[in-house]
Amino acid sequence: RDQELEQLLQAHEWTSKLYHYLLKNTEHGKPALEYLRSRGFNDKAIDTFQIGYAPARWDTLVQFLDKRSFDLSVMEKGGLISSKQDGTGFVDRFRDRVIFPLHNRTGKVIAFAGRIMGDGQPKYLNSPESRLFSKSRTLYNLHQAKTEIRKTRQFVLFEGYGDVISAWDAGVHNGVAGMGTALTESHANIMRSLADEVIVCYDGDNAGQAAALKSIPILEGVGFNTKIALLSEGLDPDDFIQKYGAERFRSQVLDGAVTSVKFKLIYLKKNHILLEEDGKIAYIKDALEIIAPLSSPTEREIYLQDLSTDLQVSFDSLKQECNELRQTMQ
Ligand code: GTP
Ligand code: MN
Ligand code: MN
Ligand code: MN
Ligand code: MN
Repeated sequence: RDQELEQLLQAHEWTSKLYHYLLKNTEHGKPALEYLRSRGFNDKAIDTFQIGYAPARWDTLVQFLDKRSFDLSVMEKGGLISSKQDGTGFVDRFRDRVIFPLHNRTGKVIAFAGRIMGDGQPKYLNSPESRLFSKSRTLYNLHQAKTEIRKTRQFVLFEGYGDVISAWDAGVHNGVAGMGTALTESHANIMRSLADEVIVCYDGDNAGQAAALKSIPILEGVGFNTKIALLSEGLDPDDFIQKYGAERFRSQVLDGAVTSVKFKLIYLKKNHILLEEDGKIAYIKDALEIIAPLSSPTEREIYLQDLSTDLQVSFDSLKQECNELRQTMQ
């Protein structure tokens, strides 16, 4: 039996309970609770996701763990607390932040993400990688979402914790998120063991759309049927739900998710100036690079038809050019 690992798991569980309690039941937690409410997170969401608050003091958690006889150097290695610079003891890692516990697949707390209230850097402070926590393999909310995922064989993949929580509140219970860093092949493999389809629902800003584009080969590489949700005005899913409501999020954003090919074409189009002939020609050339490799003739036809209508170019000439390109690709 691995004592150290056992200790760390237990300490994470206790810590999560402490922070949740401090948020909900103490004077210290009031501003954090206000902050969460102002963002539209209700009590049910706060409980379901065990959201907490780490107070603006140096040793709340250190004292708490010490009193419970946890070995503080083990706690430090596990990323719960930090060593003082002069080596004379330990200080809390998370101070004056809203705390989102991160769970492993079986529901054990393995790390924390702490959000600053208001502006400031870093916006999110995460636990470091540890024996419990690997960023490249952890998916936020997988432990709760897996029931619905198995039922529907579908994931919704978000960028942020807040997106998962708001979507959950909006009735979307198969949502997970990566750790802010790029989606990894390990993430994709874990997801693929539970489902066949994924809707990538990343932020509507440039960074989010670029990340969505990058996720496509990773997800399709493990055999996922991959769709992409489109968000307007640079909103993220959380913003969208707060602004337009749950119903529109489900019917417009999720049900309106497009195929990966369609998404690539939309993405491409944004990077060409179509008012000028050479821009239009360059766009068509790039679009055909995406369409020509598709193995299904009807699929190619559908996208070519779209392109033809969109750009006022005859379907026949597009098709001819597409077929010529296909020849050179074989
Ligand atoms: P809110 O502003 O609270 O709504 O956060 P968000 O989730 O919309 O953040 P954003 O779209 O900027 O980033 C998406 C995800 O990237 C977050 O949920 C985090 O996982 C991660 N992230 C964002 N900022 C930071 C940061 O400063 N440090 C780290 N380690 N991760 C970050
Ligand atoms: Mn609770
Ligand atoms: Mn973002
Ligand atoms: Mn965001
Ligand atoms: Mn957000």
